[in-house]
Amino acid sequence: SKAPITVAVTGAAGQIGYSLLFRIASGALFGPDQPVNLRLIEIEPALGALSGVCMELDDCAFPLLNSITPTADLDEGFKGVNWGILVGSVPRKAGMERKDLLKINGGIFTNQGKAIEKNAASDVRVLVVGNPCNTNCLIAMNNAKGVPSDRWFAMTRLDENRAKSQLAAKAGVHNTSVSNLAIWGNHSATQYPDFYNAKIDGKPVTDVISDHDWLKGDFISTVQQRGAAIIKARGLSSAASAANAACDTVYSLTHPTAEGDWTSVAVCSDGSYGIEKGLMFSFPVRTDGSKWEIVQGVPVNEFSQAKIKATEDELREERAAVTELGLI
Ligand code: NAI
Repeated sequence: SKAPITVAVTGAAGQIGYSLLFRIASGALFGPDQPVNLRLIEIEPALGALSGVCMELDDCAFPLLNSITPTADLDEGFKGVNWGILVGSVPRKAGMERKDLLKINGGIFTNQGKAIEKNAASDVRVLVVGNPCNTNCLIAMNNAKGVPSDRWFAMTRLDENRAKSQLAAKAGVHNTSVSNLAIWGNHSATQYPDFYNAKIDGKPVTDVISDHDWLKGDFISTVQQRGAAIIKARGLSSAASAANAACDTVYSLTHPTAEGDWTSVAVCSDGSYGIEKGLMFSFPVRTDGSKWEIVQGVPVNEFSQAKIKATEDELREERAAVTELGLI
């Protein structure tokens, strides 16, 4: 049988962790014949809750789960790790200044970056889910200069999945009919879900859906505000769908992209589409299963350009703030 892949998950006792770990252990990342080791990283006060999650993982008797290591020690947690999924963070709460938020998360992600650089396997790849995920990823990456910048990802797949589902519902088709949905920029309310380049059964969305006012207006704002709508309805933030998107992201980055299609993930900008180099920016990305690339030549019209500029501006501001705080 295959050698196990070691996956670290931070914030493992949290909401997303509770959905994510069971999916990983049942083969959602690497397929049904690939064993995994789980390193579950939490802060000390959550280790009690984490031990309960570990009991439940045991009680699933997952054939693919080779080992479970719960820990609050970053060196132990990231030792020999092939994939790090960084979920634990401190999201903005009412009354919290943005600077305070960046400072708290700065502490978390500088230390995690350093621990990854020091301990992880030489092929380590990192997906940041914890918000603000693009900038948290930027901080970790810049504190782990020994790990190449093409190994760092921040999650916008939930936005892509949300956008596909909205377009499918509007067109009255199944979501598998929707392809080429690029999310540009920040995982925030400035993100741009690019309907102009998306397709339904291979045809441009703008040909299939005649209500262009909806596309330019409610469609975009529904995707941008979906997280808030779920909090309002559920009283808790989206967790199962976020965990699902994390599985989709890792799966998509480790398996060849369908011919002609792409997926969305924030990567370190190389200057493509005029986006400032070094920002963690979501682009249309494709891969052969090991090497990924930003898809080039996707048409960007005037409407899209303005939206992409707005989300780039926000990411530049976030970067300026963490630079000023000495975090990168
Ligand atoms: P949660 O509050 O239920 O769980 C977070 C867990 O992280 C807690 O168990 C906490 O103890 C742990 N934690 C805090 N600091 C830590 C540290 N330094 N090291 C290790 N663990 C630490 O939150 P939930 O719902 O699981 O969400 C987690 C994050 O994911 C939030 O920041 C949320 O905003 C973000 N998120 C991102 C999405 C995306 O699309 N990128 C979608 C949904 C949520």
